[in-house]
Amino acid sequence: MGLYNLLMDFDFKLLFLFVFIYIIIADFLKHRNPPNYPPGPLSLPLVGNVISLDRKHPHVQFSKLADIYGKVFSFRLGGDKMVFVSGYKTVKEAIVTQADIFVDRPHNALLDRFFSGSSGGLFMSNGETWKKQRRFALSTLRNFGLGKGTMEQSICEEIRHLQEEIEKEKGGPFDPAILFYNGVSNIICQLVMGKRFDYSDHNFQIMLKYLSEALRLQGSVWGLMYQAFPELMKHLPGPHNKMFSHVDAILDFISQEVESHKKDLDHSDPRDYIDAFLIEMENHKESDLGFTEINLAMCSVDLFMAGSETTSTTLLWALVYLIKNPDTQDKVLAEIDGVIGRTRQPSMADRPNMPYTDAVIHEIQRMGNIVPLNGLRITAKDTTLGGYLIPKGTTVIPFLTSVLFDKTEWETPDTFNPGHFLDAEGKFVKREAFLPFSAGKRVCLGEGLAKMELFLFLVGLLQKFSFCVPDGVELSTEGVTGVTRVPHPFKVHARAR
Ligand code: HEM
Repeated sequence: MGLYNLLMDFDFKLLFLFVFIYIIIADFLKHRNPPNYPPGPLSLPLVGNVISLDRKHPHVQFSKLADIYGKVFSFRLGGDKMVFVSGYKTVKEAIVTQADIFVDRPHNALLDRFFSGSSGGLFMSNGETWKKQRRFALSTLRNFGLGKGTMEQSICEEIRHLQEEIEKEKGGPFDPAILFYNGVSNIICQLVMGKRFDYSDHNFQIMLKYLSEALRLQGSVWGLMYQAFPELMKHLPGPHNKMFSHVDAILDFISQEVESHKKDLDHSDPRDYIDAFLIEMENHKESDLGFTEINLAMCSVDLFMAGSETTSTTLLWALVYLIKNPDTQDKVLAEIDGVIGRTRQPSMADRPNMPYTDAVIHEIQRMGNIVPLNGLRITAKDTTLGGYLIPKGTTVIPFLTSVLFDKTEWETPDTFNPGHFLDAEGKFVKREAFLPFSAGKRVCLGEGLAKMELFLFLVGLLQKFSFCVPDGVELSTEGVTGVTRVPHPFKVHARAR
């Protein structure tokens, strides 16, 4: 019996050793780098660089790796090998000059589960479906007011609601995050479903909570772990499961809107994105190209996810930088008083006459760096970049932090300095390395809308209020990094002007 146990024990250890060596060799062969592959930190079998990943501020760690390994370097998260492209010139070379090679999004286990059954919405779709959906969304945005003044009107109306909400605080300290998020999301609601929600609407508040929590979890260590080890994570308990239930609840919310739109759809007079999409679906019965009901819900989720938190977070960074730089805030207030006054509604026609405010908004976006990594891409064929080979099918990160803080492009990259966007006479100057919306064929679809919202919301708020923090409070610019980089929660006083 004793000998039997000994043999079994020995066999078991041998088997274990054999399986272990087999896994290591298989992993090595699968992830072996081809000649002239970009350099990067040494990675462990199976887990890659997961253990050394800075979970709090990955973009800071990746900036340091770019200093060590150069403008094109590699990194491995579990089974996912990725190549980082850094610095304005190299990022532009990839996503603009070699646009066709770097245009697609890679497979992503997390988003695959969110998007299951759809054609990938707007953000994750590729090929003809993406082209068609992107073109359709852009033309719908134009038809419903962008560049025609109607969108400007909706934004100004929303600003009035926001001002009223802030007035209710009577100068006392309040958290601006929820109000800004609500206000900005209402602009997407107008666009997608033709209506806005009151700031006290319970169901809408819950949807916004789900939306921001799903985004936060997606960029958290739980989201990264799911992407790196989907088969394992699927079966484990943990906060990552909330992401899926939250996205399902948002999809339900939108599906209910779609159902009610179907009931009173007027083919000759579409009211919003949902109506326009339902009408377009009838023209695509043969070749769907993403014009299906499930993809309508997914595209709408994308517009909410990509268009709400980004803009409201930028407005929060605006408060942080204006409060930390009171001279800048005073100069913006003076320009608003001089050009618009305190009663007339602001309009986009005012922007060319307000170079200082325009420069401040640009600098807030640069320093805010709210999408620090950018959207991921995958190479369509073998190519070279910075002298290195990037094989077909490689996940590529056109690293936006490295562009917005590029030492060779910005005079004071790490300091808030509206002068980056002003010439010696105080006129506004465009800067090529200003790419918070990215560039090339996948450039942010909502860039025009976001710029309009940022200008009108900020000017509308500063027309009525000046902002400061409670005595003794020092605001942090460190931020919390998920998919987006948001300021730490803070409270402000809004003093009526
Ligand atoms: C300050 C606000 C915003 C910032 C900084 C921002 C930034 C970005 C960035 C960096 C990307 C990835 C681009 C790439 O992969 O190269 C992106 C994509 C996208 N954004 Fe925005 N965004 C903002 C507002 C908006 C708004 C308001 C909308 C909605 C209308 C929107 C809709 C989208 C969509 C649909 C995509 C995916 C485009 C595609 O894959 O073709 N964004 N955005």
